[in-house]
Amino acid sequence: STAPPATLFLFGASGDLVKRLLIPSLFSLSRMGLLDPALRIVGIDIVPGSDDSFRQNLADFLANQADDSDAEAGGIDLEQWPDFAQRLHYIEGDFTQAATYRAIDETIQASTTANALFYLATAPRFFADIAEQLGTAGLLRESDTQFRRVVVEKPFGHDLASAQALNARLLSAMSESQLYRIDHFLGKETVQNILVARFANVLFEPLWNNHYIDHVQITAAETVGVEQRGSFYEKNGALRDMVPNHLFQLLAMVAIEPPAAFTADALRSEKSKLLGAIRPWSKEEARHNSVRGQYQAGRYKDKPVPGYRDEPDVDAASTTETYVALKLMIDNWRWMGVPFYLRTGKRMSARDTEIAICFKPAPYAPFRDTEVDHLKSNYLIIQIQPDEGIWLDFEAKRPGLMREMETIQLGFAYKDFFDLPSSTGYETLLYDCLIGDQMLFQRADTIENGWRAVQPFLDAWQEGSRVDGYEAGQDGPASADALIERGGCQWHTLGASRKPR
Ligand code: BG6
Repeated sequence: STAPPATLFLFGASGDLVKRLLIPSLFSLSRMGLLDPALRIVGIDIVPGSDDSFRQNLADFLANQADDSDAEAGGIDLEQWPDFAQRLHYIEGDFTQAATYRAIDETIQASTTANALFYLATAPRFFADIAEQLGTAGLLRESDTQFRRVVVEKPFGHDLASAQALNARLLSAMSESQLYRIDHFLGKETVQNILVARFANVLFEPLWNNHYIDHVQITAAETVGVEQRGSFYEKNGALRDMVPNHLFQLLAMVAIEPPAAFTADALRSEKSKLLGAIRPWSKEEARHNSVRGQYQAGRYKDKPVPGYRDEPDVDAASTTETYVALKLMIDNWRWMGVPFYLRTGKRMSARDTEIAICFKPAPYAPFRDTEVDHLKSNYLIIQIQPDEGIWLDFEAKRPGLMREMETIQLGFAYKDFFDLPSSTGYETLLYDCLIGDQMLFQRADTIENGWRAVQPFLDAWQEGSRVDGYEAGQDGPASADALIERGGCQWHTLGASRKPR
C-alpha cells in the first residue's frame, strides 16, 4: 500500500548514486502507485541549479540509459516521467552552512506533511557533519505526528575505530530508530529469500550444522574492473568495499539462528550475535587465512583490458587489492569446525554472486562395484545473481548395466516461477524507510561486529602483505586456490551453478 507522505531530501543530488539508482528506484515506486501524491523529493547540493535544471539533468541521464541495455536502469519507460518530475525540487546549498538547513526547514514548513527523510548520498566525510547540523537545526525532532529519519550509505567507516566513532557521532544527533544504514544487498530478492528457504521449510534446517555441512563458500565475483572509481577504490580495496558489508550480510543470512519473531530487532540481534561469533584471528593466522589479489592486463569479452595499475586515478605501483579470499571460523554450537570461505573480486571470469553449501559425503558406500570408490559431496547452491535460483547437486545412477553414478541437479529457477522485476534493490529499501521498517537495515552493533571480524586482516596487512597478480578474466590468483586446498576443498566453479543437460 501507499507509503505515508514525506519530503525526501537527497544530500549529494548531483552525484552518481542519485541519478543511477535513487531516482530510477523512486520513479518505479511512483509508477507502482506506492508513493503518496504529497511525497516530494528535494535534491540538495553545492552545484548551482534550479528545480528545472535538476529535472532536466535527470531526464537526460535516464533517456541515455534507456537506450543502453547494459545499464542498471536500462529499458526504463519514460512515458510517466513528466508527472513524476513534478515531485522534484532543488536546493542549492553547502552541507556545512546553517543557511542550507534553514532552507530545508522552510521547505518542510511549506509542505503539507511534517514527515521528512534525509538521505545522505554524499561523500562519507560529510555524514556526521550533516547529521549534527540537522540535529542542531532541530530538524530531527520527532513527534506522534511527524517522523524524521536519516539514511546513510556505505562506506560506514574504514575500520573498527572509525565505524565506532561515526556511530557515536550519528547517535548523538538522533536515536537508533531514526537511523537507516543501507546495504543494497539486502534489497535483493534472492538475499531476502535465504531466510524464507531456511525457515519456512523443514527440509534444510535439520542438516544446517556442523554434523552435515563440511564447509560454506560465499562468492561475489564481478567481470567489471574498477571503472571510474579509481580514487575511491585505491583507499578502500576489495575487502573494505565488499566484505564487512555485502558478504557478511550473505554470511549472516545463511548462518544465523532462527529469530524468535520476524521483527527488525529480533532479526538484527541474531545477525549481530552471529558476526560477533566470528573467531578473531591473530595477525599470524589472519595472514595465513587470507589472500590478496590484483588484476593485471587480460581479456574481457574477447577484448584486451588494462590491468588495475593502468586504470584512471590508480597509482602505477598500487598495492590495493581488487580480489580477496578469506577463511573464517564461527565459534558457536552450530558452526564449530565448519570453515567459511569468502572471496570477491573484480575482472573475474564470470559475474556470479552465490553461496555454495558443501555437505559431508555419505558415511559409507554400500555399492559393491569397483567403479564406485568414493562418494561425492552434495552441494546446495544459492545463486544470488545472475540466473537467480537454488540448485542441489546430488548423485544419481546413470542408466545402464553398470552401476555408475553421475552428479545431477534438482533446481528452482526464479524465472520458472516468478517474474523477478529488474529492480536495483533500492525500491524495497526506500519504501521501507518511508514506512519505518528497519528489518533490512544495519544496526550499530552489527556494523561494529562486522568491522571487528575483519580488523585482524587489516592489521596484519598493514605490517606488510603480498598482493598476488591475476590476469583479468581469470578467477583470482593461484594462492587463493592454495588457501582453500589447504582445507581439503576447491572453489565452486564460477558461472556454473546450473548444470546443463
Ligand atoms: C558496491 C561496491 O557496494 O557493490 C562495488 O562498492 C560493487 O564495488 C557493487 O561493484 C556490487 O553490487 P552488485 O549489486 O552489482 O552485486
